[in-house]
Amino acid sequence: MIARPEILPPSAAAIARAAELLRAGELVAFPTETVYGLGADAANQDAVESVFAAKGRPQFNPLIVHVADLEMAEQVAVFDDRARTLGHGLWAGPFTVVLPRRDDAPVSPLVSAGLDTVAVRVPGHQVAQGLLRAFDRPIAAPSANRSGGVSPTTPIHVAKDLGERVAMILAGGRCQVGLESTILDMTTDPPRLLRPGRVGRREIEGLIGPIAAPEDGDAAAPAADPTAPNAPGQLASHYAPRLPVRLNAVTVGPTEALLAFGPDRYIRGGATRLNLSPEGDLHEAAANLYAMIHRLDDPAYTAIAVMPIPERSIGFAINDRLRRAAAPRGAVRPS
Ligand code: TXA
Ligand code: MG
Repeated sequence: MIARPEILPPSAAAIARAAELLRAGELVAFPTETVYGLGADAANQDAVESVFAAKGRPQFNPLIVHVADLEMAEQVAVFDDRARTLGHGLWAGPFTVVLPRRDDAPVSPLVSAGLDTVAVRVPGHQVAQGLLRAFDRPIAAPSANRSGGVSPTTPIHVAKDLGERVAMILAGGRCQVGLESTILDMTTDPPRLLRPGRVGRREIEGLIGPIAAPEDGDAAAPAADPTAPNAPGQLASHYAPRLPVRLNAVTVGPTEALLAFGPDRYIRGGATRLNLSPEGDLHEAAANLYAMIHRLDDPAYTAIAVMPIPERSIGFAINDRLRRAAAPRGAVRPS
């Protein structure tokens, strides 16, 4: 009997074994450039069910289907010219597109929570690519964390959070982007940004023209309606550590942990502190965000106080996740 989970460096042999486990209906955690994914054979209904069970995730919250390339993506979803333009321009990379689901998609209906749409992504990470090539079929994969919690950017996070619920962890080191993929819903007109990420609005608009985004207000922001969580990554409370999170901190209390950004010497005190990027580099901050929140989420402190993060570039995505991490959990149930 092999102890669970098997945690292996991603050699060719380990990737082949991971593909074998997927074929047997088991769950495998693997690195992507954004966060670690909890992978299952997307066509296997039982395996997909066990993803929801392992995460404690409600079955109305659909999963992203990971594919090796645009060609495999077209077997899952119906692409029009604009969607193809995005695929050519942004894949492989930290970008997910929601499209009409093909009737003959080799994917269990549970993956898309019974919706007639499906989210697809071609990850750029070498290990994710290797696994998709070895498995040669779509892999359904949410972030490899318990539902509502902080996404994993290291194999240790996965092991701590999911433990024996996963058969194997391909340990590919730290994720470079550190925030989940940008999600664009192309089933609406104009297309709508559901989740900000490393791929920014301008980059998308440069390829296909105007899209709607949450900062436009009302119509573009269904997130506020908890009864219609068509991308529950948008629910008010999500990505949340156990400790309360206090945003835009310019001071820190004696029992608080400070999560700093940029120069922080003028903020005195705090029980401990980590700095997302002493130089004020937003990409470095994104890559460090979840790992530092994981480290500060310790009952030795009373709260995590986070310094202001500029609203530009990937700062939009960082602030989106921080607002959800700070949202009261009673208001909208985390998913
Ligand atoms: O970077 C990522 O996207 C990572 C890595 C592992 O690829 N995955 C990830 O998956 O973040 P997850 O399950 O944690 O977030 C997927 C989001 C959820 O908010 C879900 O509601 C949304 O995608 N989603 C999935 N299918 C959808 C659909 N058909 N329509 C709208 N939203 C959808
Ligand atoms: Mg997630």
